[in-house]
Amino acid sequence: MPGEKLVVISGVSRGLGRALAEAWLTQGHRVWGCGRSPECIEELQSRWPDSRFAMVDVADSQAVATWAGECLAAGECPDLVVNNAALINANAFLWEVPVDEFSGVIDVNIKGVFHIIRNFLPPMLKRRQGVVVNFSSGWGRSTSAEVAPYCASKWAIEGLTQALAQELPSGMAAIALNPGIIHTGMLESCFGGMADRYPDAATWARRAAPFILELGSQHNGQPLTVPGF
Ligand SMILES: NC(=O)c1ccc[n+]([C@@H]2O[C@H](COP(=O)([O-])OP(=O)(O)OC[C@H]3O[C@@H](n4cnc5c(N)ncnc54)[C@H](OP(=O)(O)O)[C@@H]3O)[C@@H](O)[C@H]2O)c1
Repeated sequence: MPGEKLVVISGVSRGLGRALAEAWLTQGHRVWGCGRSPECIEELQSRWPDSRFAMVDVADSQAVATWAGECLAAGECPDLVVNNAALINANAFLWEVPVDEFSGVIDVNIKGVFHIIRNFLPPMLKRRQGVVVNFSSGWGRSTSAEVAPYCASKWAIEGLTQALAQELPSGMAAIALNPGIIHTGMLESCFGGMADRYPDAATWARRAAPFILELGSQHNGQPLTVPGF
């Protein structure tokens, strides 16, 4: 199909990553996606045999390297990398957050993004083409009580992405993207019963999927937000 894109998405099992993957797959694009839930990964793989889905924890640098090696072995190169996978801490004052939970947020939300970039960016650099979209948050640009670890991770993503944007050759882009506020499992964790006041992931993806595909080198380093959300 002309204009078909190859997209890497972390966190395709649920929420925004799943909705984006479904939207792009339905339009004829191909996805290399990962997540930790085996049933979701198996289901996606059986429905979309031309794409690749793998059970990979992005916090595990070796697992990401192995997965990327398998994806890239045939010489194909992604057009777009979407760093979507993330965790949020259970609402709590910072001094009450368990040490392991804080580490988990940092390992997935920051180091996971680094692991994906470290393994999938080199072939894109060789072609001097492609876009990296790192999911930030309203909480990457503002803060609230009880989500300090998550805020710290998303503010880090804004900085990491802007620095990366300064390193990329012309023709490429790194973009921190705030998706907006969407009813997912993550929103239920931090907003509780108020989460169902917000649009669902499929509704969001109808607008977000074409918006993200339109991003290019002219957006390099810009902190963006999906319009309307
Ligand atoms: N929903 C919102 O309103 C909102 C607002 C601002 C920003 N965001 C950002 O948007 C992105 C998606 O959020 P969401 O609301 O869709 O969250 P979600 O419903 O909790 O989904 C998170 C996804 O990430 C995957 N994931 C989590 N840890 C992973 C790991 N270690 N390795 C691989 N995959 C992992 C999960 O799958 P498994 O559990 O199967 O691994 C799942 O597919 C996140 O970056 C989030 O910070 C969301």
